[in-house]
Amino acid sequence: MKVIHYVFAVQILVVSAVNPVVAEEKTGPGLFEYYACVNCHGTEGGKPVSKAVPSLAGKSADEIYTKAQKILLGEGATSESEIMHTAFYSPSQCDQPPSQDELRMISNWLASK
Ligand code: HEC
Repeated sequence: MKVIHYVFAVQILVVSAVNPVVAEEKTGPGLFEYYACVNCHGTEGGKPVSKAVPSLAGKSADEIYTKAQKILLGEGATSESEIMHTAFYSPSQCDQPPSQDELRMISNWLASK
């Protein structure tokens, strides 16, 4: 019996450790969480955590992609855009920004909400 319990416990650990990264990484909603966009823009981009953060709801995929890409490249025109830029590029963060393909997937998913 002890052995069976042990095996079961290990399986649970493996599944919960691997699932969020491998299974969800390559979908719009998975990437939105993986890159922590959700921490500022809220659930499905429609519940921003502060007035400085715009809602992404109701925007087209092209608009989301183009604006996000500009901010990530450090070409945002506002001081607020620095908040988002710094989240990916400050030396204290180890996060990498999403690739162009990944940002496209996030944008398409958000626009479908
Ligand atoms: C640390 C908080 C933060 C994180 C993380 C973050 N953003 Fe932002 N985002 C902002 C802020 C603040 C602005 C407003 C910038 C401005 O007004 O110029 C913004 C603006 C945007 C805009 C432009 C919206 C508009 O209509 O002007 C898009 C699109 C966007 N973010 C997408 C994303 C995506 C996709 C991610 C994840 C890869 C992400 N953001 C992660 C804070 C964040």
